[in-house]
Amino acid sequence: MYQATSVTELRQYMQHWKDHGHSSAFIPTMGNLHGGHISLIEKGQSLCDRSICSIFVNPMQFGPNEDWDHYPRTLDRDIAQLEAVGCDLVYLPTASELYPDGLDRISHVQVTDLTDHYEGAHRPGHFTGVATVVLKLFNIVKPDISVFGKKDYQQYRVISKMVEDFNLDVQIIGQETTREDSGLATSSRNQYLDAEQKQKAALIYQLLQQTAQQVDKGERDFTMLRQRALENLDEAGFKTDYFCICNAETLLSATPEDRDLVILVTATLGQTRLLDNIEISLW
Ligand code: PAF
Repeated sequence: MYQATSVTELRQYMQHWKDHGHSSAFIPTMGNLHGGHISLIEKGQSLCDRSICSIFVNPMQFGPNEDWDHYPRTLDRDIAQLEAVGCDLVYLPTASELYPDGLDRISHVQVTDLTDHYEGAHRPGHFTGVATVVLKLFNIVKPDISVFGKKDYQQYRVISKMVEDFNLDVQIIGQETTREDSGLATSSRNQYLDAEQKQKAALIYQLLQQTAQQVDKGERDFTMLRQRALENLDEAGFKTDYFCICNAETLLSATPEDRDLVILVTATLGQTRLLDNIEISLW
């Protein structure tokens, strides 16, 4: 696997592949890789000749009270995993090259409408940081496709909207969430759950599935379905930030006429905030 730390180096590899007619799949990450990330690389490899992964703990998407300094950095282990999956190139940008004049003096990408709710409300400025760094990375790497996990559903939609709004020449692929046997979505945060909490955490996906089945069977009283799920989570000891049945594209509350839906949920168990979602297609 090749490694690049500067834009110049990275572009040399990309140009070489382009000259040889190779297509490229790009997977941006913040490192601390797990099975979910590896499935994104594998998806990219199934669609393109070359796979490129970036690892950059982007300071711009962390709020003032969020711990950028303590975000887990596991570079040696990440590189070993990327080697093992056969990734072709890892890009390790430096903050001084991406943000030479600091965070305050760079233009920002604000993706309208999709960023105010859910994670955007919980983490003001977060999606501006994500969209800005992803736009920069797209312009540096110039991949044919880029793969995003649907686990972070709002992020996946925000990036898709940015690509559409700015006519970017990259195809966004959403990859299904990888899950533990219990159904719990794979996440680096799962390591903070003890055995009992881990068992309990499986309830989140069970409720998503149950609610999706009800909608699929024709239930359109979304308020009642939401209320029922919230009560279940509450009884099991979760502190729920949101459990919303939404239009899958706009992420606005679903109407009975919508055909593509997603249920977004975020609930905290102990100290661990868990995110998950399920898509529903009613076509
Ligand atoms: O999902 C992530 O890890 C990050 O938000 C991303 C897309 C790599 C941007 O920093």
